[in-house]
Amino acid sequence: MSSQFPEARSRRLRRSPELRSLFQETEFTLNDLVLPIFVEEEIDDFVPITSMPGVMRIPESKLASEIERFARAGIKSVMTFGVSHHLDASGSDTWNERGLVSRMSAICKDAVPEMIVMSDTCFCEYTDHGHCGVMHGNEVDNDRTLANLGKQAVAAARAGADVIAPSAAMDGQVQAIRRALDAAGFSHIPIMAYSTKFASALYGPFREAGGSALKGDRKSYQMNPMNRREAVRESLLDEQEGADSLMVKPAGAYLDIIRDIREASRLPVAAYQVSGEYAMIKFGAQAGAIDEARVVRETLGSIKRAGADLIFTYFAMDLALAGI
Ligand code: PBG
Ligand code: ZN
Repeated sequence: MSSQFPEARSRRLRRSPELRSLFQETEFTLNDLVLPIFVEEEIDDFVPITSMPGVMRIPESKLASEIERFARAGIKSVMTFGVSHHLDASGSDTWNERGLVSRMSAICKDAVPEMIVMSDTCFCEYTDHGHCGVMHGNEVDNDRTLANLGKQAVAAARAGADVIAPSAAMDGQVQAIRRALDAAGFSHIPIMAYSTKFASALYGPFREAGGSALKGDRKSYQMNPMNRREAVRESLLDEQEGADSLMVKPAGAYLDIIRDIREASRLPVAAYQVSGEYAMIKFGAQAGAIDEARVVRETLGSIKRAGADLIFTYFAMDLALAGI
């Protein structure tokens, strides 16, 4: 027989801070966090991103010193996004060995060799139309984009990227990248698949941060936010294609999906707290409505509790400076 009130009193374990921490089930540390960064070429000064207070585009010329500063604060991993001045129809700068994708990885690894550098692998910041691949009429041509993803991944790996993170939401992208990496001698480089990526309204500030040229939307290649079964299917397909880790994006509004994927797969599961989630917390706090430090910890803790092993978050540096 399970005991009930008055024998069962949950409050016994909540009486002091010490008791509460002893019985706390979920924790996150800097080991679990990845800091996404925006790096712009051909500029001299930091550019504040107005829709993401506290986040700046880093000039390429200051990337090395920034990476050193992140490392000193305790950041273990970054994800690189380039803000390109070399746009074309296919995003060919991404596989140019002297292009921005390659230079970002090389600069980061040169500055701090032990920093784990994840190379976001997509085209939308390098195409003149802003879509995540090659266009054919009004549609993104899935299969022609795959070959380009392979080339970009190999270029990034050659430049020193530790992890390839494809976010283009093309079918077959993990398999295509795995084959390209293996054929080029990079069978040891893991793929962090943006495996369940929703066509979310929460990416708004990112489009400002990345200077996106996109008109329209990505609903024909990213997932419908209302679909739960399909989310699991998408991630399991990436696992079959050879992904080393899965990812759910955005995070906070998709905790059910994180939990589903945690239970459906044995692979590590990551979650991406995206730009809109960041902006809502920052602006809410600036307006005096919520306590930023507490809400940040509560949201990230909840993402872990839902089942994420690691979290991409723009708050990573704030947490590192606060000593977590
Ligand atoms: C594009 C990409 C996006 C983000 C990461 N990679 C935006 C999009 O799909 O339009 C969003 C990240 C964020 O909002 O923080 N491949
Ligand atoms: Zn993209």
